[in-house]
Amino acid sequence: MDKEQELTYLSQIRELHQLFPQEYNAQNIVDIGIDMCNVPRLQKDMEEIGPFIPDNFTDEEIVYCEQARQPFLRAQRYAARFAAKEAVVKALGGIDRNGFGYKDIAVLKDEISGKPFIFLDGKAKTRAEEIGINKILISITHEKDHAVAWCIVMK
Ligand SMILES: CC(C)(COP(=O)(O)OP(=O)(O)OC[C@H]1O[C@@H](n2cnc3c(N)ncnc32)[C@H](O)[C@@H]1OP(=O)(O)O)[C@@H](O)C(=O)NCCC(=O)NCCS
Repeated sequence: MDKEQELTYLSQIRELHQLFPQEYNAQNIVDIGIDMCNVPRLQKDMEEIGPFIPDNFTDEEIVYCEQARQPFLRAQRYAARFAAKEAVVKALGGIDRNGFGYKDIAVLKDEISGKPFIFLDGKAKTRAEEIGINKILISITHEKDHAVAWCIVMK
């Protein structure tokens, strides 16, 4: 990065700080989590375990994933959401498994930008509240056989 690029980068970071002073303050980062999901393996689970999809994904997630025209994209979307849920669990330092389901961590999408965000419910919400989390950042990516998600939780 040359000097001019560095200055541009820093001014963009400053703008973000002004827009989102709390969210983008690194001192507010509590933990991170990452996960990778194998798309064909998840597709097999979805085919072989009858209630796998309704057990693990919310109605809104299912609607989005099922809108995919190609079967491989449908599977990638589910895999990316599964990875995101596991990344969130890691970032929250684990969640009491008793009565916890992955539907408690929903990956929703900003309708305009398409950017994903996390909505917590049930035990996941309780866990986040216990450790003082009020912001969750998520980024997801998927290609042929793999989906990856990275999560940052902030106070
Ligand atoms: C966002 C974008 C970079 C995704 O890249 P990609 O290589 O095609 O796909 P990836 O597999 O890496 O990522 C896909 C995921 O990115 C996420 N995503 C989509 N839009 C996003 C955004 N604005 N910000 C952050 N994440 C976004 C979604 O969760 C998506 O997965 P999903 O559809 O299953 O929910 C791409 O869609 C893009 O370029 N969008 C337009 C960006 C733009 O506005 N460009 C104009 C200036 S050049």
